[in-house]
Amino acid sequence: MRTPLVAANWKMHKTVAEATAFVGALQAALGGSLPAGVEAAICPPFTALYPVGQLLRGTGIALGAQNLYKEDQGAFTGEVAPGMLAELGVRYVIVGHSERRSLFGEDDALVNAKVRAAFRHGLTPILCVGERLEEREAGETEAVVTRQVDRGLEGLSPAEVARLVIAYEPVWAIGTGRAATGEDAAAVIRLIRERVAARFGREAAEALRIQYGGSVKPENAGEFARYPEIDGALVGGASLDPRSFAALIQAFRR
Ligand code: PGA
Repeated sequence: MRTPLVAANWKMHKTVAEATAFVGALQAALGGSLPAGVEAAICPPFTALYPVGQLLRGTGIALGAQNLYKEDQGAFTGEVAPGMLAELGVRYVIVGHSERRSLFGEDDALVNAKVRAAFRHGLTPILCVGERLEEREAGETEAVVTRQVDRGLEGLSPAEVARLVIAYEPVWAIGTGRAATGEDAAAVIRLIRERVAARFGREAAEALRIQYGGSVKPENAGEFARYPEIDGALVGGASLDPRSFAALIQAFRR
């Protein structure tokens, strides 16, 4: 049985002071410890990784990053190497978020190189895929998501695929307050799993976790948590408040 993962994507929010205060408040909101049957991760901005990582030690809550570079080191001003993240105890790294793709020009080839760089350093990528509104309206959801999955996973071994996390995030649902329905999300997630099974085998496809992301909040979490296909959530806005994030962790217990 797959354990759901609820991951906080803070995006470009929270100073070190705000981030460290959050961890204490989250612990309190969870009643002191992470409940059984669910995993949780916090992906703060790079500047808060170290102090948040220190505070998360021993809590069972994992540390995640929002991005990394594909190379191990070198003259890449402003970038952060996978080994630098691993050294801080980072376990998960978000790769190919739609904001990276649309605002920073990341294409499938770069996303794939980042996924491979993460695995080289023992990090677990959370690979984001999802269609834009015009693609959904044109009936292209399956083609777009299949292409992103195929290219994103290129060159991986079945063992790596089994460890990977995919976040299905329809772009029109991110930050808009307009979430997909549970049924729609589950249908696309089934399709992704079948595609992975066809390319990497049933065992890897059944082990891989596939989250839903896009306007998930405590009020609608149950709509997604009740589908066994949906292995947790990648949460932006609703992860910024410790009580709300704690409620989401509780909602996805399996
Ligand atoms: P949202 O963001 O929960 O604010 O819609 C999700 C994401 O971008 O990962």
